[in-house]
Amino acid sequence: MATAAAPSRQTRPLFADRVAMLDTENAFKVGPYIKEVEDAGHQVVRCNIGEPDFPLPRHIAEEVKRQIDNDLTHYNDPQGILPLREAIAHTMGEARGIHITPDRVVVFPGAKPPIGFTQQTYCNAGDEIIYPSPGFPIYESFVRYIGASAVPLHLEESSGFSFDGSDLRRLITDRTKLVYINFPSNPTGGVATRDQLNEIAQVVLANTAPEVRVYSDEVYERILFDGEKHASIASVPGMEERTVLVSGVSKSYSWTGGRIGWAVFPTEAEAAVFKNLNINYFSCVPGYNQMGAKVALESPESEISIATMVDAFSKRRDFVVDALNSIDGVRCQKPKGAFYVFPNIAGVCESLGAIEAHASLPSPVRDFTTPSTLFQLFLLFRHHVATLDRKSFGRIGSEGKHYLRLSIATSLEQLKLGMQRLERASRDADGFRAFVQEGRHLY
Ligand SMILES: Cc1ncc(COP(=O)(O)O)c(C=O)c1O
Repeated sequence: MATAAAPSRQTRPLFADRVAMLDTENAFKVGPYIKEVEDAGHQVVRCNIGEPDFPLPRHIAEEVKRQIDNDLTHYNDPQGILPLREAIAHTMGEARGIHITPDRVVVFPGAKPPIGFTQQTYCNAGDEIIYPSPGFPIYESFVRYIGASAVPLHLEESSGFSFDGSDLRRLITDRTKLVYINFPSNPTGGVATRDQLNEIAQVVLANTAPEVRVYSDEVYERILFDGEKHASIASVPGMEERTVLVSGVSKSYSWTGGRIGWAVFPTEAEAAVFKNLNINYFSCVPGYNQMGAKVALESPESEISIATMVDAFSKRRDFVVDALNSIDGVRCQKPKGAFYVFPNIAGVCESLGAIEAHASLPSPVRDFTTPSTLFQLFLLFRHHVATLDRKSFGRIGSEGKHYLRLSIATSLEQLKLGMQRLERASRDADGFRAFVQEGRHLY
């Protein structure tokens, strides 16, 4: 009988190749940097945070506590408990003028998990995925991991960080399988008009096969300014059958720690695939939080909490946009929704010498950073304001684009302080040169 050759003990890579393909969300990476600055005795103005600075509304918190006391603390339906799916179907459907049944709804631990699950479910290697850039980084992060091809749709400042049908049409090919859209947008606060959404929908319907899906990330649907009403691509006739419609409690109800998000799928069969992914990854989402989410969606008290929060964001937005535009070398549009501003800082990068400083860095340091990254880190380590750079919102094609994202989910007093510091940093060419020379925090 042949004996198997003795296994060789030659070294093997520890990690599978795909590990290197997954990118990340820098919003989580900046936390340790802030700690470092604070440990050195400085108070940091946090304009990096992607979560509302309001407490979880009382009526929601009370319901969560009540359901823990009711012992709703066990495994439950991996698709999401029926009372919550009914509430989602009703409120999402009513707001969009469409009929949603609870069997097309799946609940996840936040609005983030369906982003990667959607790529895993619909895309094979080589399929093309179109996504906004700048955009929420997780869209791009997953693409190489699942072996698909990334096709960034570059949003231009001159178009209010929105896009129309012709912008999308240029990117569609026979390999297009999935298109992400996100209005109101993170990081720009851009919002598509109804006409733009209609055009985008017509382009999808006329140029792609029925199996191509649009992922409409609507997590900021309740955070709109100037009396604007949310518009969803799923409302356009023919699009409900094409759209994975996503929202959640993190932003609208100031409940990022509740980890409740959901998606509405075109068919029950598609929802069943995602339910099975839930079973494979985490079984289910805590029932008491799901009941809290049901109350969040249905209680009239939620309308008051949302209005209070949006009113505060709106006042802060007006202040911050004016303050930024009064700084030499900064240009900032007024966002129509979400709680971010996305100033163009090309003038500051030039006057501080960030563009040449970046070009003179040795490779590979240069490849890990950009001029706006250098300014972002200079601003944090030397002037104590935490923000995020342009490449944190899509790396591919971000070269030569000089922007920052500032969150306005922090008090007006802190924002005032932050703007003073940013103004000072924008003039501190000597400090910037010394910071780059020191070379400790360049990416
Ligand atoms: C556009 C967008 N989608 C999804 C998410 C994820 O939200 P959640 O906290 O519900 O997972 C975020 C969070 O920042 C976001 O900005």
